[in-house]
Amino acid sequence: MLSWCLTTITYATRQTNVLHDTCNRRPDDTSTTKDKIKYYTDLARLAERGKISAIFFADWFVGFDVYGGDLNAMLRSAHQVAHLDPLLAVSAMAAVTDNVAFAVTQSTTYARPYVLARQFSTLDHLTGGRCAWNIVTSYTKSSANAMGEENIIPHDERYVVADEFMDAVYKLWESSWAPDSVILDKTTGMGFDPDKIQRIEHKGKYFGVSARSQVHPSPQRTPVLFQAGTSKSGSAFAAKHAEAVFLNTFNVSQAAKTVSEMRAAAAANDRDPQSIKFFPCIMPIIGRTKEEAQAKYQRAVDNADPVAGLAQFSGYTGIDLAPYPLDEPMDLSGMSQAMAIQAVFKALEASEKEGDKPWTPRRLGMQMALGGLHPCPVGTAEEVADVFQQWVEEADVDGFNIGSVTNPGSWEDVVDLLVPVLQERGMMWKDYAVPGGTFRENLLGQKELRDDHYGSSFKWKGPNAPVVDKVNGEKQKVNGVQEVTC
Ligand SMILES: Cc1cc2nc3c(=O)[nH]c(=O)nc-3n(C[C@H](O)[C@H](O)[C@H](O)COP(=O)(O)O)c2cc1C
Repeated sequence: MLSWCLTTITYATRQTNVLHDTCNRRPDDTSTTKDKIKYYTDLARLAERGKISAIFFADWFVGFDVYGGDLNAMLRSAHQVAHLDPLLAVSAMAAVTDNVAFAVTQSTTYARPYVLARQFSTLDHLTGGRCAWNIVTSYTKSSANAMGEENIIPHDERYVVADEFMDAVYKLWESSWAPDSVILDKTTGMGFDPDKIQRIEHKGKYFGVSARSQVHPSPQRTPVLFQAGTSKSGSAFAAKHAEAVFLNTFNVSQAAKTVSEMRAAAAANDRDPQSIKFFPCIMPIIGRTKEEAQAKYQRAVDNADPVAGLAQFSGYTGIDLAPYPLDEPMDLSGMSQAMAIQAVFKALEASEKEGDKPWTPRRLGMQMALGGLHPCPVGTAEEVADVFQQWVEEADVDGFNIGSVTNPGSWEDVVDLLVPVLQERGMMWKDYAVPGGTFRENLLGQKELRDDHYGSSFKWKGPNAPVVDKVNGEKQKVNGVQEVTC
């Protein structure tokens, strides 16, 4: 039986599908205006009209330069390059909406905890609690080089860094300012109570913080936390920190396995396993009739650029596919996964294990160009809703991260054709659960972190209270401030 939270749908702005140059050739496509504020405000209004939960911004610091050893394929296709910083677009989107939320990607490898905590506190205030953070650890060498580093930090260590990063930001968000520290009384002229605002001392292996949070508590304090890693260390991180997880997989059985393993890992951390929400990526092509949907699909195929798709795959995995013969099956087992988004390999391997034909670079490039390594159902709204329903019922997912082949046409089809069918089937709410509320209220039923979430162990307990870390044991209190030992 579906519950209301299964209706939650996340709405992706990722341009991972039919690629940018293709879109440029379509007169109805607005992707070339991604450097204008109107693109973002129109998108926010459209999402809210469709009662969509959140707009998700994937983000990379640098274009992918793995394919052929350079950025050229990505530049030619205008794909995942010329990327504006999404954090700066969100305030404008919030100004024209009341309900839809915004999930923004930021990296624990290159940000500083104090700066990031301040940015998200600011965003949470300005959006009225409608923001989320997609926590990434940045896996590309080009990002490391852009930051002045010669090499990338090894995969598992990046998650150790991220784990410490989280401790530092939880402390800034949850325990620097007491709930009753904000007075702002015009009659007395009293602003904030200094006795209820404490300095955070974090002395870890990777980060240090010695400061009070610059920003007073925002509606959610900690933004809703998204994560997408599915390796062993990525899953462990998600089981501890994530409130929502993005999945990237073709088949429903693999998604079901991932979801049940991650829910079990959350339960082992004393969390309610259903309090982690799972959103598989999906890229539907929807028509008013089967024929119209097929025609839209054919138009996408005609415009797809498999080389740009391969360049994107190479960027995801760190493997240069340029030298591989286009029509020969690839030996997936021989490919190093050390730098990869491991979910990408798992998706390919799972599809082959299920009797799918072997992957060739050409087939892979087309698949990437037409949607990515996840379901791309083509059909009427009813047919597409059947696929959504199957994933909800068989994989226990809570919503979807929906991509597009053309902007805003694909998402208009979702809002105008698919949403009414999902609503009719009881799979999607008819209105936001808490209109005008925070994202967490709409996703999880409460404003701040749940008590069973690890970050809650950092909640303000008084200036001299010891902090108990549920996972790593008791932490020390030094001179009235909390010291984190990592
Ligand atoms: C669906 C999905 C979306 C992702 N989005 C981003 C992103 O926007 N920016 C980024 O730097 N990494 C992104 N990643 C990469 C992950 O954050 C992570 O670095 C990568 O998957 C390696 O971790 P893993 O081995 O645990 O999967 C994404 C991964 C997946 C599976």
